[in-house]
Amino acid sequence: MLSNVVHSQISLHQRFRGVVPELASRSHTERILPIVSQALADAKLAPADLTAIAVTHRPGMVGCLLVGLAAAKALAWRFNRPLVGVDHVQAHVHTGLLVDPGMPLPALCLVASGGHTALYKLIEPGKSERLGTTRDDAAGEAFDKGAALLGLSYPGGPSIENEGKLGDRTAFKLPRTMLDKGSLDFSFSGMKTALLYTVQPPSKQPPGKQRQEKPKPEELPSGQELKNLAASYQEAIVDVLVGKLRRAAEQHDVQSLCIGGGVAKNIRLRERIANDSVLQDLHLVLPPLDLCADNGAMIAGLGSILFGQGKTSPIDLDAVATAQSGGKIKMRPRKPRRVSK
Ligand code: KG4
Ligand code: ZN
Repeated sequence: MLSNVVHSQISLHQRFRGVVPELASRSHTERILPIVSQALADAKLAPADLTAIAVTHRPGMVGCLLVGLAAAKALAWRFNRPLVGVDHVQAHVHTGLLVDPGMPLPALCLVASGGHTALYKLIEPGKSERLGTTRDDAAGEAFDKGAALLGLSYPGGPSIENEGKLGDRTAFKLPRTMLDKGSLDFSFSGMKTALLYTVQPPSKQPPGKQRQEKPKPEELPSGQELKNLAASYQEAIVDVLVGKLRRAAEQHDVQSLCIGGGVAKNIRLRERIANDSVLQDLHLVLPPLDLCADNGAMIAGLGSILFGQGKTSPIDLDAVATAQSGGKIKMRPRKPRRVSK
């Protein structure tokens, strides 16, 4: 890995408590060229030194994907290099191989971010199987919505993590939704409702106001109570993630475990995985924090695997909002390189 430049848009979206698609794609337009230049400068490379151009083409906000695609296509066209479209969730799944190329396969991979929460079995490079996914909210979304209910800032994961550091994880009993026996799917939407009712018990609400959406500022918890709520809420989410990983490890023949997505930066989650009696037996790859959240290096990483397998994309490659559900990554076989005269 020669460089990995990430431009965070958190400050841009913070006051809206979530990503505003139009602002996000406009910021991509403004930042894409300086970031490509910076990545090349850090790697001490010129565009002509590149072998291929990898780019995320799915899943995500289509406006943002289109900006990246346009830039990648322009580079590929101008320098006569092949374009390799990458599914960014699959790139999270392959991050273990970027960090530890010798990671034994098959590997169990948890991808947990603001938009996705799913378990995959990475069978071989470029081929994975989705074992389960969320039926409603993603784990990061649960952190973000929980933080909003507690009056903590966006993004919710780091706010809840910080607030909960000195909190009692057992102070509040919150549900752990594990779904049907053996299910590897997730459901997080009930958690924020449980948190709301803990902060604001319906029995204490005036008649006819039992389902208030958000606590008023004067009703927000504070002090040690807030710390305990944050720690208990984080523990409930982590319990579900670790519980599902244990289930998957018991049901499937896997040798390694790897995690990715913004939620994979959570220290308590990493601690619990590392100390779990079932998961400990697997070869554990907990990528550095900057390779967990979305980043260009993981796209280049999977891009180079696909390119090595002879897979490239047509120059009219389109943006797709949804993820692939797994299986072999389908692309057309690589054509012999055009050599410019
Ligand atoms: O992967 P990511 O950076 O962006 C996408 O959603 O694609 O993930 C962002 C999500 C947010 O929901 C954020 O609250 C969560 O990851 N997150 C965390 C932590 N850092 C970010 N969740 C728990 N603990 C963290 N330390
Ligand atoms: Zn992601």
